[in-house]
Amino acid sequence: MNQTDKQKKIAAEKAVEQIESGMIVGLGTGSTALFAIKRIAELLESGKLNNIVGIPTSLATEDEALKAGIRVGLLDEFPEIDITIDGADEVDGNLYLIKGGGGALLKEKIIAQASERVIIVVDESKLSNQLGEKWALPVEVVPMALEVEKRFLKTIGGSPMVRERRGGYFVTDEGNYIIDASFGVIKDPENLASKLHERAGIVEHGLFLNIASQVIVAGKSGIKILDH
Ligand code: A5P
Repeated sequence: MNQTDKQKKIAAEKAVEQIESGMIVGLGTGSTALFAIKRIAELLESGKLNNIVGIPTSLATEDEALKAGIRVGLLDEFPEIDITIDGADEVDGNLYLIKGGGGALLKEKIIAQASERVIIVVDESKLSNQLGEKWALPVEVVPMALEVEKRFLKTIGGSPMVRERRGGYFVTDEGNYIIDASFGVIKDPENLASKLHERAGIVEHGLFLNIASQVIVAGKSGIKILDH
């Protein structure tokens, strides 16, 4: 395992320590969240945890959870989630995030907003002084609105690139497209988020503001916990 993966694993396993038996747990998407899923499965297997229901943030995560032997439930059945553990693509000092690198931002945001606590687990390469330093902003759009929302993103200073996979457009679990819009450093994330929300063709975007309760960062010199 390379150094980054080791850090992802350490951060994810630290977060899992906060899970107690009987909890409803939001299961994030991506390589870091997968370490948490595997750890939860180990604790269930050993009997240290029991009676956990996982609420997956993507079909890929649902598959992984089922493979690992974790019971999964629907958000409709379990609308009050105790804790969600998820990764992020970029994290700033306000615990604001860019997410959506795996294309699961819509369900990730819905599940995070339904959670009492949202623990974000990252390796130290994800830390930024300001969002947008390292990552374009994923924007999920309804297919028929692809061209108009691309044009709109340009008018507000973005450089839009439609995400592709295997020679076609990347399609989300909900059947939408993703535009990765680079804005450079995002000086006013609240303002950008509200502009994006005004657009009918934009289903959701990857700015997660005031959502993370805590960020666990694993790095060369150990674990750092960022709280409000
Ligand atoms: C999925 O849509 C994303 O929000 C992921 O949480 C994010 O891309 C982090 O992924 P890794 O843990 O694989 O870096």
